[in-house]
Amino acid sequence: MSELENIAKQMVAKGKGILAADESTGTMTKRLSSVNVESTLENRLKFRETLFSAEGMKNYIGGVILYDETIKQKTTSGKTIPELIKSFGSIPGIKVDTGAKKLAGSPEEKITEGLDGLRERLAEYYKLGAKFTKWRAVYNISKIYPSELAIESNAHALGRYAALVQEAKMVPIVEPEVLMDGEHDIKKCYEVTAKILKECYKELKLNKVDLKGTILKPNMILPGNKSKNKSTPQEIAKMTLKCLKENVPSTVPGIAFLSGGQTEIEATQNLNEINKINDSNFLMSFSYGRALQQSALKSWAKNIKDTINTQKIFNHRSKMNGLSTSAKWSMDLEKQITA
Ligand code: G3H
Repeated sequence: MSELENIAKQMVAKGKGILAADESTGTMTKRLSSVNVESTLENRLKFRETLFSAEGMKNYIGGVILYDETIKQKTTSGKTIPELIKSFGSIPGIKVDTGAKKLAGSPEEKITEGLDGLRERLAEYYKLGAKFTKWRAVYNISKIYPSELAIESNAHALGRYAALVQEAKMVPIVEPEVLMDGEHDIKKCYEVTAKILKECYKELKLNKVDLKGTILKPNMILPGNKSKNKSTPQEIAKMTLKCLKENVPSTVPGIAFLSGGQTEIEATQNLNEINKINDSNFLMSFSYGRALQQSALKSWAKNIKDTINTQKIFNHRSKMNGLSTSAKWSMDLEKQITA
């Protein structure tokens, strides 16, 4: 097994998933403001350090995605953040795109930027301890979107990004996210996601990316958040698995879903249902931001010195998601916050 394949498999090994703590300063400021905490450099570090030093990291978190600011920070004990993460048995990674900007030929859509100077930035992140990276493309669903232009240009960038990352000896997480905003039904999400995945793998192939050393971070197949037709977790799981089996090459070792605005419980339950019926070779796991951090953040905001309670909540959420990677989660377990 190649080194990259080995890293990819460790990130999403059974029982484990990824903590996406790579919010940009703008997004983190929104998250902190929503719980009335000032977004200072110190507070952003404090919250993240609280999570990264929780016991739940050891058993349930195979990798942590960091933001540029965080990967360069030191903890109160003097360790760097990547060293702290490694000491808890997890792998540090880094978001390397520079954000989704207005797409010139279709200004209501987005193109993700960050290819300029990427080779040099990757070398720096590798030295800082990163073993994997993330690049997120976003697509909207509406009557006319996503356009061919958005699908092709974002896939092209993902392909070039992934090739550069492997050249720098790291595992690229490929994240094409179809947003859940809108009135569309689950079938529409399925069709759009299928088209986008096909185009992404066409570009990855063209760029000679070794798929065994990659992780896919997709959206689950869900109805839009304003859709009149709701879907059960069983329908979501069935459609999601079908879409991935049909459009993702089987050499990809792991799929780590984003939560994308689902509640904590929805994200856990849907992943559990997917794993109940997973008859593919893919390790199906999570790479959650909000769905791993929301409750912990709310608790921390009440008293930022109360590390114990914040970690207890984070440990619980991590454990619940860890269980869902083996289809061992149940609603009853949600009541048992112990460690
Ligand atoms: O790129 C998206 C984040 O890494 C995942 O965040 O789980 O809150 O959608 P989310």
